[in-house]
Amino acid sequence: CGIVGYAGKEQADEFLLAGLKRLEYRGYDSAGIATLGDECVNVIKCKGSLDELEDCMETDNTAGEIGIGHTRWATHGVPADCNAHPHQGCEDRFALVHNGIIENYQKLKQDLLERGHKFDSETDTEVLAHLLEEEHESDVLQAMRSMREKIEGSYALAVVDREDSGGIYVLRQASPLVIGEGEDANFLASDIPALLEYTKDFYVLEDGDMAVIDEDEIDIYPGNGQAVEERYFHADWDAEMVEKQGYEHFMLKEIHEQPTVARRFLSDRLKQEEVKMPELEEIWQEDFEKVMITACGTAYYSGQVGRHIIEELARLPVDVEIASELRYKQNFIDEDTLVIVVSQSGETADTLAALEVAQKKGAKILALTNTASSSIARQSDAVVDIMAGPEIAVASTKAYLAMLLGFYLLGLKLAELRGTLSQSELSDYRREILKLPDRIESTLHRTEPQCQKLAETIVDYDSIFFIGRNLDYSLALEGALKLKEISYIHAESYPAGELKHGTLALVEEGVPVFALMTRGKLARKTLSNVEEVKARGGRVIAVASSQLMEERAEDEFYELIKLPVSNELWAGVIAVIPLQLTAYYAAKELDCSIDKPRNLAKSVTVE
Ligand code: G6P
Repeated sequence: CGIVGYAGKEQADEFLLAGLKRLEYRGYDSAGIATLGDECVNVIKCKGSLDELEDCMETDNTAGEIGIGHTRWATHGVPADCNAHPHQGCEDRFALVHNGIIENYQKLKQDLLERGHKFDSETDTEVLAHLLEEEHESDVLQAMRSMREKIEGSYALAVVDREDSGGIYVLRQASPLVIGEGEDANFLASDIPALLEYTKDFYVLEDGDMAVIDEDEIDIYPGNGQAVEERYFHADWDAEMVEKQGYEHFMLKEIHEQPTVARRFLSDRLKQEEVKMPELEEIWQEDFEKVMITACGTAYYSGQVGRHIIEELARLPVDVEIASELRYKQNFIDEDTLVIVVSQSGETADTLAALEVAQKKGAKILALTNTASSSIARQSDAVVDIMAGPEIAVASTKAYLAMLLGFYLLGLKLAELRGTLSQSELSDYRREILKLPDRIESTLHRTEPQCQKLAETIVDYDSIFFIGRNLDYSLALEGALKLKEISYIHAESYPAGELKHGTLALVEEGVPVFALMTRGKLARKTLSNVEEVKARGGRVIAVASSQLMEERAEDEFYELIKLPVSNELWAGVIAVIPLQLTAYYAAKELDCSIDKPRNLAKSVTVE
């Protein structure tokens, strides 16, 4: 879910709508706003997109210079008008928006029902609006303080009070919330990109923080006793970075930004003779015995690539665990484990919880993230900023590529620290990495028309498979995820050698199978699996390094996408490009909602 707030001299409604549009990727099944009018709170909310909210706002009263807004990704209660935020209690005095989950809401609701409260929605959030009424004695801050004692779970909360024109009251626990400091207004949002048009000066709230904002003041009451200045963050992102800049979709823009992302990250981190990774060096221990990578979604798949890189270069054993699984299993993490937490947003609840589990075991935590001000960054011992710039499309592309680059450099630095590679090997690897931005660029240009055509031919199939071995299998995972999340075509990835142990039963006449082949020794093996697919009528789309395909005839495959790969260890950032493009054009062909696929959200701050 996404939250915005405005307290200033202008009418709040226009800002609220614009802010929600910027946050739409966090949830888009319903939306609403509340503005503080003359001794009244105007609440407008509805199921559906922000266009629908905008329609309602044209006819309803939205006057007021203070307001809050919300765009929802349903957890408790189906998308419906009544479940949309803001929520109000019985007296309609407070209006409240919430991101997170109140875990003990059922018990609280029962108590409130017994006290005569009537509920309009199925949400956990509405409980807070009623509870606030119960706890209110003198002012909202006091009410929030005592409410905080009773609620469990995660919450970023913003409240306006009909009886108090003093501003917006906010409370944060385990869900992101930032306050933007403006000239004649102050702002509130779930994340920084939503506010870049208005300010670059932020206060990033921490767990337990409360705050009150009005047009002139930002009063923060730190939950942990730290000085307020500790929360200050100056963002050096530009507002145009969150615009489409002529592209039809953010996803396509972000795919095309990848050469720039790679150049920026590498020029910051890689000089001809040195990988600059001081963050790792600061926490480096000679006695690190293993590495644990944990993350969710695309970030998790980047970790699958990271495992191969670190194992091969630094000869350290690596485990990769899905964060929501790591939390509840035997994990064998200890003081000698380097834990790498990967997250684009830095706010994914499961990833944050896994980080905390690892921290309790005494492990050193290194975050690989795109958001240096995020909760995950702040809680880690070391932070490597992947510098991909704001990523708006729900399906991650440029952040994934930057995560892979992060792993390449971490792998090289670990190898250097452990002495597993000679100086000349290290400099060969570094030299090859520096060629990647140009190769990414040429791959983009050369494969885009091919992928567009290919996409048109695969959209009629119910299932599509992706196979590969080793690193290529890790890439296959991301290829299948991209396709299913935006085109809704069922896609699965398998280690190529595993296909024959079950999934081959699903391959019949015409079924598309993407075969990834970037690793010399293994390509030959995968080619045997390709033959098994062809023998059953499957259509093989080979995505392969051109030098490995020199002796193959193009017509051996339904389609052959050739890649300019010279060092196969770094093939990931090149091979993923046609996979992203094919997913994009398939979704476009099917007229899907590419930037905001159904049921998904970009930043998932609930467990
Ligand atoms: C959500 C997004 C995915 C993303 C995952 C992890 O599910 O839809 O695209 O990969 O969260 O997000 P993170 O911000 O932690 O990388």
